[in-house]
Amino acid sequence: MSTNNTLVIDENTVIHPSKEFSAKARVSSMEQYESMHKQSIEDPDTFWANEASDLKWQKKWDKVLDWKAPYAEWFQGAKLNVCENAVDRHVEAGRGNKAAIIWEGEPGDKRTVTYQQLQHEVCRMANVLIAKGVKSEDRVLIYMPMVPEATIAMLACARLGAVHSIVFGGFSSESIKDRLEDSKAVAVITSDGSWRRAGVVPLKDNMDEALQNNDTVKSVIVLKRCENQINMTEGRDFWWHEETAKVTATHKPEGFSSEHPLFILYTSGSTGKPKGILHTSGGYMVGTYTTCKYIFDMKEDDVYWCTADVGWITGHSYITYGPLFAGVTQVMYEGGPNFPDWGRFWSIIEEYGVTIFYTAPTAIRAFIKAGDEFVDKYDLSSLRLLGTVGEPINPAAWEWYYNKIGGGRCPIVDTWWQTETGAAMISPLPGCTPIKPGTATRPFFGVDAAILDEDGKECEVDQPGRLVIRKPWPSMLRSVYGDKQRYEDTYWSDYDGIYTAGDGARKDKDGNIYIIGRLDDVLNVSGHRLGTAEIESALVAHNSVAEAAVVGKPHEIKGQAVVCFVTLKTGITETDELKVELRNHVGKVIGAIAKPDAIHFAPGLPKTRSGKIMRRLLKELVATGKVTGNITTLEDSTVIAAIQKSITG
Ligand code: PRX
Repeated sequence: MSTNNTLVIDENTVIHPSKEFSAKARVSSMEQYESMHKQSIEDPDTFWANEASDLKWQKKWDKVLDWKAPYAEWFQGAKLNVCENAVDRHVEAGRGNKAAIIWEGEPGDKRTVTYQQLQHEVCRMANVLIAKGVKSEDRVLIYMPMVPEATIAMLACARLGAVHSIVFGGFSSESIKDRLEDSKAVAVITSDGSWRRAGVVPLKDNMDEALQNNDTVKSVIVLKRCENQINMTEGRDFWWHEETAKVTATHKPEGFSSEHPLFILYTSGSTGKPKGILHTSGGYMVGTYTTCKYIFDMKEDDVYWCTADVGWITGHSYITYGPLFAGVTQVMYEGGPNFPDWGRFWSIIEEYGVTIFYTAPTAIRAFIKAGDEFVDKYDLSSLRLLGTVGEPINPAAWEWYYNKIGGGRCPIVDTWWQTETGAAMISPLPGCTPIKPGTATRPFFGVDAAILDEDGKECEVDQPGRLVIRKPWPSMLRSVYGDKQRYEDTYWSDYDGIYTAGDGARKDKDGNIYIIGRLDDVLNVSGHRLGTAEIESALVAHNSVAEAAVVGKPHEIKGQAVVCFVTLKTGITETDELKVELRNHVGKVIGAIAKPDAIHFAPGLPKTRSGKIMRRLLKELVATGKVTGNITTLEDSTVIAAIQKSITG
């Protein structure tokens, strides 16, 4: 359905929520926001105790927050079961027949899972895991397509107090292997394959490769999804449908302490291998729930859809956990946005009457490029609220999203957060915050966000600095799995007792926070974090490569593209075939999402005299074709001209 309410938008446009929206929202004025925010910062115990009381605690906490920087314990002394809150609580409240998940597979198959059915399925899987010897605190690695069983597997782990560690289906066997080793998982839940643009991604084959020489994993549960040919290892591999048929659909949810580990999710940093970000139970539950309540304005009759994959934090917090804590009906879709054509998302919104839609700017830009005709065929009038996450949204994409998808009537919540933060941290509240394209606006309740300079002084209006959070928040990471030192060094060492996000940001005169981008060597490719160090180490692992440097280049759709500079070993010839080989090699080592967009051969890399690669210069070169500023500190400044030539061909 085309819109007639088309607003022309630029970065100075300010849009206020409509009276109708505000009237029904939980926070309907900026005064109310300011006073709630003030209370949440000055008296977090009262604020969070109040929010937490919406949820079920088998034993109430003795203390809301115990903070010994940088270690927080939230809801100390409490006992709860996360899964009980996501599932059983709603069944007990008489909403068992409500649809929890309305699922659509890529080939077009459809399924609705009610809260009651979800309870049965989760209990069955919990019983299967028990039968396989999985105990509280054991790690279970999940490598699944976007099917309800992915959520069921996560919730079954949570129910037992087992710690899930999801690996996104687009990651390679080597990535799985690293994560298996780091987490010492005892069990794996996977599927034969996953549909992606009519082809099958061989998940079980990848898993088999990752499991070679592994001695921690005792059992592998395999869901039959694509019916592709796979190998089953006797005594280790078991079919999901056979095992769940052997057990009952009841299981009593045990209460665990609030700081009981819930999951590990690996994410890229500026150095070394991905870090296992550890999240725990009570605080994460309250944080994700509360953001669903206020930012996504989730209500009883909403049909909510987040297009992320459960392999990313967005899929954890805003598919599996938050929306189920809030008890909404959500849509889950398995496949690509352009299958069979670019209208797939809009057909899903029309068919299920989606009211709240949450996606990424990169997807929006791809839709714009595909053309409006794919949108115009569908009626999107059910939508009332839109959201974005993953990267800053540029005004052109914002305008299209607002007008074309939202019909000029839906507020857009641009949510800034991270794997580490667990829940959205900076975002408009849809019923009150004046919204502007490109800014995530204001800190959420309990979030004491500031922008500091290198000396720890707060930046002036519009002065760029480092984004930090000065107080603990319930859904914060608790550690890097198995590496407290890395936790302290990465997040808490810039300023005493203050969390450094790793993002550059600035605040305008109205208090809106603009995220400028990562300050470390982390790329944001299609809203996903990739460490340049990881790609570089994949490249140098190839036997033709002597040295490599990886930088991001602005990209129209992806936000950033991966550009590699490679110095070959003596005697190796620079050929286009080798470029293809290196590209595929990175795909094999990390996963298809990390495949470089461009590879340039370079006789040498720009380094300081102490041997540090100056990625800043390479970044400038790929973005503008030239280098401004002083290059006299370089060990060999002639490499710049050679690299310039390799870029321009
Ligand atoms: O740079 C910020 C960017 O994504 C990073 C976090 O990535 P990840 O842990 O993979 O989580 C992504 C989904 C929560 C941040 O450090 N980022 C995320 N959301 C935004 C954003 N940048 C600007 N605006 C956003 N709304």
